[in-house]
Amino acid sequence: MQHGTNVITLEQFIIEQEQDHPEAIGRFSKILRDIVLAARMINREVNKAGLVDILGLTGETNCQGERVQKLDIFSNEQMMDALFRGRMVCAVGSEENDDFIIDNESEGKYVVLMDPLDGSSNIDVNVAIGTIFSIYKRKTTSGPLTQEDLLQPGHQQVAAGYLLYGSSTMLVYTTGNGVNGFTLDPSIGEFLLSHPDMKFPEKCTTYSVNEGHYRDFFEGTKEYLRHIKRDSPTPYSARYIGSLVADFHRNLLTGGIFMYPGTTKKPKGKLRLNFEANPMAFIAEQAGGYGSDGYQNVMDIQPTHLHQRTPFFIGNKDEVHKVESYVEQFDKLLAAEIVG
Ligand code: AHG
Ligand code: MN
Ligand code: MN
Repeated sequence: MQHGTNVITLEQFIIEQEQDHPEAIGRFSKILRDIVLAARMINREVNKAGLVDILGLTGETNCQGERVQKLDIFSNEQMMDALFRGRMVCAVGSEENDDFIIDNESEGKYVVLMDPLDGSSNIDVNVAIGTIFSIYKRKTTSGPLTQEDLLQPGHQQVAAGYLLYGSSTMLVYTTGNGVNGFTLDPSIGEFLLSHPDMKFPEKCTTYSVNEGHYRDFFEGTKEYLRHIKRDSPTPYSARYIGSLVADFHRNLLTGGIFMYPGTTKKPKGKLRLNFEANPMAFIAEQAGGYGSDGYQNVMDIQPTHLHQRTPFFIGNKDEVHKVESYVEQFDKLLAAEIVG
């Protein structure tokens, strides 16, 4: 944390970035501000989630048949409202909506994809949750939006980030010039630059996976897990929160690999390429890490639909490459079933 005259607020940081990279960053920094505004609203509700009647199920399920809690809906609405009010976006794709929400009137040139509330099963038990977002620029210059505008591979992201509602509230984001982390100082209501130029530590010391599904993992994942437990000179720590944002964030700070592999029951795993894997992969890459589906960089996948899932391995670059080598050795023939 910086002190005294060295304190840099998010707003000051954004202005400095705009001055340094006017053509690249200037236009979408407004979107960042809109997202942060929504995040403050979400944060407020998250902090009183144990107190008020916002908790609990609405009785509805989302388009993927999963239970939806009220805070998911609230977060989705806050993000949608803030983004469309800001008029910089022409379309938003959310985990909570079947399809893109498109504003045909908008002159906005950006498409936002988001997981408004990540880790929703942790709301009721007072465990860290988050919001994930990524920003793309539309490809066509005018007229109705096309598939090419809406479903772009992750390497086309112009910005990505997450909010972590943990023991403190943080914003971590990249615009392609490294990764910076900001911590909300609740006493003044400002995000302050607390983690400049974040990088994965050299050494990978943690692995994070829902190992309860071990028997259903494919052979490559199993072999990799056996390997790190059996062969590593110093033991890895196992840490799994069950909120991607929180698991990723811890691993970014301490060095580690997070995985949500495909299983025999769900070959493409659980996580969503567009809302979860791509933004995290972009952040990881900018922090010296790497995000893979076991076969390739997830950001190289051409999405075919909004809600598509992907197996996901992310963290220290060498470690994720190690997983890829096990997948290559044991699961090569499954690629057709798993990839894309
Ligand atoms: P969401 O709450 O947006 O549906 O995401 C939950 C995800 C992710 O945050 C986490 O890594 C994973 O689900 C945990 O899944 P398991 O409970 O199957 O381990
Ligand atoms: Mn999620
Ligand atoms: Mn979610």
